[in-house]
Amino acid sequence: MTNDFIGRIRTALEEGGVLKLAKRGFSRVLNLGIRVYNALVVFVTGGKKYSYSSSDSPELLEVKQRSEKRTDISDHLIPLFIESLEVDPDVIVELGVRGGESTFVFERVARLCGSVLISVDVEDCSDVSSYDRWHFVQMDDVEFVKVFDEWCTERQIEPNIDVLFVDTSHLYDHTLQEIRHWFPYLSDGSKAFFHDTNLTNFYLRRDFTIGRGWDNNRGVIRALEDCLDKKFDEKKEFIEFVGGWLIKHDPYCNGFTELVKIRETSKMRRNFSGDN
Ligand SMILES: C[S@@+](CC[C@H](N)C(=O)[O-])C[C@H]1O[C@@H](n2cnc3c(N)ncnc32)[C@H](O)[C@@H]1O
Repeated sequence: MTNDFIGRIRTALEEGGVLKLAKRGFSRVLNLGIRVYNALVVFVTGGKKYSYSSSDSPELLEVKQRSEKRTDISDHLIPLFIESLEVDPDVIVELGVRGGESTFVFERVARLCGSVLISVDVEDCSDVSSYDRWHFVQMDDVEFVKVFDEWCTERQIEPNIDVLFVDTSHLYDHTLQEIRHWFPYLSDGSKAFFHDTNLTNFYLRRDFTIGRGWDNNRGVIRALEDCLDKKFDEKKEFIEFVGGWLIKHDPYCNGFTELVKIRETSKMRRNFSGDN
C-alpha cells in the first residue's frame, strides 16, 4: 500500500520532470567536483605525466604527447603502442573507433611495421586517419566478421590477425560474440587487447585523477572469464598463463587486458594438467 503510494508520487514527479532535473543537476555538480579535484591533483603533481627523451622515436613522442590528454583510455596508449610494435604485425584489426585515440596509436604502429590497419565502427569514423593502408568499415563488427574472409580476398589481404583490439559496446553478450567470431582469425604469436575490463561508475587513472564511466555489470571481463573458464579480480593488476594464453591486466583507466597467444611448451602442458 505504502509502496504503491510512493510509486505513484514518484511517477507523478517523473512525469513532471522534477526527478530528471534533479538527476541532471546532481550529475553536473558531480562533474564539476571531478574537474576541481583533477585540477588540484594536476597542480600538486606538476602536470606532465611522462618523461621525454631526445632519443624517443617521433612516433613514441607523438603517442606520449597524445597520452597527456586525460581520457578514458589515456593510460593505455603507450602500452598499446609498445605491445603492438613487439608483434611486428602485418594485419591489425581495431573494433571501436569513435574519436580515434586507439586509431592514433595503431596508425603509428602500422606506419612503422608496414601493416594493414582495419578499423570497424557502426558510426561513421572515416575521417579519423589518413594512413594509406587504413581501411575503415562502417558496420556492426559481428556482422562484418561473417564476411571478413571474402572482404580480405577482394583486397588481397591475408585474413590472419596479428593485433586485435576490442573496444565497442562493453556488453557481455556482444563481447562473447566478438571473441567467438574474431579469435579464430588470430595468428600464432598474436595479441588481443580489451579495453574496459574494469568499467564502473568512476575510474581512476595512474596519476590519481578520476573520470566517470558506467556500470556494465562486468560485461567484458565476464566474457573473458567465461571463454577462458577462469575467474579474475579485475580490480588488481595481474599476469598469468591460462591455457594457451598469457594474460596481463591493468586495472587503471577502466581496465586494459592483453591476451598473448603463445605456443604451449610440453613443460607448460604438464603444469596445466597437474602431471609432473
Ligand atoms: C568506447 S568507443 C571506442 C573508443 C576508441 N577505441 C578510442 O580509443 O577512442 C566505442 C565505439 O564502439 C562503437 N560500437 C559499439 N557497438 C559496436 C558494434 N556492435 N560494432 C562496431 N562498433 C561498435 C561505437 O559506435 C563507439 O564509437
